[in-house]
Amino acid sequence: MANSRTHAIGSLGPVTAEEAHLLEKLDLERLPRHIAVIMDGNGRWAQKRHLPRVAGHRAGTQSARTTIETCARLHVEALTLYAFSVENWRRPKTEIEFLMQLLREYLRKEMPLIQKNNIRMQFLGRPDELPEGVQRDTREAMEATAGNTGMVLSIALNYGGRAEIVDAMNAILAERNGHGAGSAITEEELSRHLYTASLPDPDLLIRTSGEMRVSNFLLWQIAYAEIFVTETLWPDFNRGKLLEALLEYQKRDRRYGGIDAREKAAR
Ligand code: FPP
Repeated sequence: MANSRTHAIGSLGPVTAEEAHLLEKLDLERLPRHIAVIMDGNGRWAQKRHLPRVAGHRAGTQSARTTIETCARLHVEALTLYAFSVENWRRPKTEIEFLMQLLREYLRKEMPLIQKNNIRMQFLGRPDELPEGVQRDTREAMEATAGNTGMVLSIALNYGGRAEIVDAMNAILAERNGHGAGSAITEEELSRHLYTASLPDPDLLIRTSGEMRVSNFLLWQIAYAEIFVTETLWPDFNRGKLLEALLEYQKRDRRYGGIDAREKAAR
């Protein structure tokens, strides 16, 4: 145990004094299995610096890189990042095009890091509505990493939580093909038809930039997730901030609608 701890922490490379202090307090055996992140605040970050909004998105890719690498090295099973929602098509065309280009560039540039960390990539959302080039690049990224056995990195792209539930229901109907109309759909069956079918539900949902909303993200899956909202804007969300979120998660008492374990033992 001590060895795997030393190994996981050592794999993070040089850490600051503050990060070392946070790591000391962190129980690596009790990390969330699945972390989901709403990466918000890129626009505000840029605005504060009198830069165009897209400069915030570019800066945000660095936080994505740090979060991905840190989670993979700490052996988190799954990380899901909300990159583009079905609602984001309402943004100016130039910003949408920039985001799509940025994602393609990101996939190209970060592939060595993804491979080196044994990460398997997948994309959650409706691919058919994405530009051809994005569809091709995302497909290739999935294929190139399909044999990896480490963390599953899901990028939610053209994703909507309600759309996902509707898609799952339609997939069930299509599978039943007019049969089985009499048998009720179960939670288990619905879960199995979501984009996240192979993943455990998120234990921790992180949202940056202070907004207290879930914004149509993983609506079904976050039923029992611990929610961590930080005022930090996404481009400022560094490794130390991520470790703080993990420590906060470890302080929570997860009851899943039941009662506290100590309380139960005292009965
Ligand atoms: C929200 O900030 C952010 C987005 C809609 C885009 C997220 C994309 C990235 C971080 C870059 C690429 C990511 C990957 C995984 C390659 P906002 O624009 O809504 O910020 P605001 O609320 O301050 O305006």
